[in-house]
Amino acid sequence: MSQPRNPIIVALDVPNLASALTLVDQLAPAVGAFKVGKELFVATGPDIVRRIRDTGASVFLDLKFHDIPNTVAKAIEAAVQLDVQMLTIHTSGGLAMMQAAQKAAVDAALRTGKSQPLVLGVTVLTSLNTNDLDAVGVPHDVGNQVERLASLAVKAGLGGLVCSPLEITRLREILPHHVQLVTPGIRPADSKADDQKRTLTPKEAMTAGANWLVIGRPICAAPNPRAAAEAILASL
Ligand code: C5P
Repeated sequence: MSQPRNPIIVALDVPNLASALTLVDQLAPAVGAFKVGKELFVATGPDIVRRIRDTGASVFLDLKFHDIPNTVAKAIEAAVQLDVQMLTIHTSGGLAMMQAAQKAAVDAALRTGKSQPLVLGVTVLTSLNTNDLDAVGVPHDVGNQVERLASLAVKAGLGGLVCSPLEITRLREILPHHVQLVTPGIRPADSKADDQKRTLTPKEAMTAGANWLVIGRPICAAPNPRAAAEAILASL
């Protein structure tokens, strides 16, 4: 997926099809894409992706695949059949896995005539700190490990990365310009932080070099989600 005109990706963190489709109907004209994560996908199955695609809206399938290369490649072929525009894999799956993932995205799109999804690498989950990495046998601080995995993702040919707001500036310094950065942890100045600890405003994140902003509660839990999304867009 190329650089967006509307960089807002709404995280559909809701438990069922009806709630998700209500948000999609309200928000589709005002946002760039919808993120379907594990909760919604496991609850509704692939039907949720088809229903969103039927409205013409783009889908970011955030299932964070992490498995052997062949299994991840097959999952990506299935995601291409569903016609998703972006999806995630764990970079810690290794170079061969990421290469297989990217190849599957390109080949399946060519074979089926569907769009080629942007394959995004997830580096170190923001729920992990340096002590947590040490406990699983990774003796590096989080920042260094993020940079190492990000560089490996680029070497494998991935077109983008998911990163925290505080990683954007550093990753922009070390990564080629074409790599797209997708950033959650976004809070408009007048929004509650909820459980997010390190946030940037939408404008700050875009200025730092993000291409896409993943935003959930500030839009979905607002009294008027459409107005909240439009206000964020106007703030950019
Ligand atoms: O409601 P909120 O804007 O905090 O939602 C952010 C979305 O981004 C959620 O779907 C969350 O799971 C996801 N996310 C995150 N931080 C990460 C990775 C993903 O908040 N490091």
